[in-house]
Amino acid sequence: MQATTRYSMTMRILHWIIAACVIVLIPIGLLMVSRGEANIWDTLTNTLYAWHKAIGFTVLWLMVIRILIKLRQPSLPYTDDIPPVTLLAARTVHLLMYILLIIVPLLGWAGITAFPALNTIGGYHLPALPFIEKGEAFAKQLFNIHGLLGLTLGVLALAHIAAACKHLLINRDNVFKRMWFGKT
Ligand code: HEM
Repeated sequence: MQATTRYSMTMRILHWIIAACVIVLIPIGLLMVSRGEANIWDTLTNTLYAWHKAIGFTVLWLMVIRILIKLRQPSLPYTDDIPPVTLLAARTVHLLMYILLIIVPLLGWAGITAFPALNTIGGYHLPALPFIEKGEAFAKQLFNIHGLLGLTLGVLALAHIAAACKHLLINRDNVFKRMWFGKT
């Protein structure tokens, strides 16, 4: 069976916006934390923090929309020639990325609620996450787990990108194209 169908336009747009956000969030996160640890609290560091929080918060709500749509539009089937072990690996990576794309922003939001540091770009303040106690030590624990899981998400995303490139350049099947735009 040849998998020619595509994901809906909404799912494709969500996929690429979220992917772009994650690609910028990780380096911004690493850079701002390293500047903070070096005690460089200038405009650049504060701007990086502000953008990281705003983009990360956006990812959380885009993921909520994506999951709601996904419940109505299940994943497209793969072609029969893909080995079962590869399918299992792909499905596991996809599931873990969905879970982390919810948990990682939630932990960041919980951290800035506990700290508290809810300010983002343009002086706009995010709402506090309900049921989170205030406390700097607790916030730091949340940030540590947030950073660790954020990097885990980055590693999974790299594996996912490598697999997508293999489909596009080596297998030359439709797996990549069905998440892309333009002609099939
Ligand atoms: C998919 C979404 C997100 C990803 C992939 C991500 C990733 C990261 C990474 C890689 C770091 C650096 C960790 C380190 O070097 O220790 C970081 C730090 C941070 N993130 Fe996120 N993040 C996301 C969402 C958010 C959200 C929604 C918020 C808050 C609204 C947030 C707030 C923070 C803060 C405050 C830090 C600095 C923690 C510290 O100072 O130790 N992040 N993030």
